[in-house]
Amino acid sequence: MSKVEKAIAKLYAQARLASDNAYSPYSGAKVGACVVDDDGNVYSGCNVENASFGLTQCAERNALAAAVAHGMKPGAAQTLLIYATGFDSLAPCGACRQVMSELLADDATVISCHSETDYRSWSIVELLPHPFVLS
Ligand code: THU
Repeated sequence: MSKVEKAIAKLYAQARLASDNAYSPYSGAKVGACVVDDDGNVYSGCNVENASFGLTQCAERNALAAAVAHGMKPGAAQTLLIYATGFDSLAPCGACRQVMSELLADDATVISCHSETDYRSWSIVELLPHPFVLS
């Protein structure tokens, strides 16, 4: 089993469960995301929309915020998995890529699942080769 297949076996069901909680009356899209830290803890998030559209929060950033709130340190997570309905195949938005780049490990893998067998995966560097950093 590859690293990606193992991550799907561990996280797919939880991401799908999180997507059930999406608050998305405007787009109808249901997105769930799970991040697993180096201690094996799993943190979930879903998309939360707002009538003031710009305030919408993506599932990936909500999962990462939950991880940080529960004590995950920046760089201490190797895998983030997304499950999405309402898209043929979701590639994470730019804002989420920036946040992933800062909070996931440098060699982390991001997996986006349409189903357990229909998915795409990327490294952080593939998603965002030139992140914004404060120097
Ligand atoms: N969305 C996510 O949750 N993650 C992404 O990476 C892109 C988009 C959500 C936000 C909004 O609720 C819906 O998908 C349509 O943009």
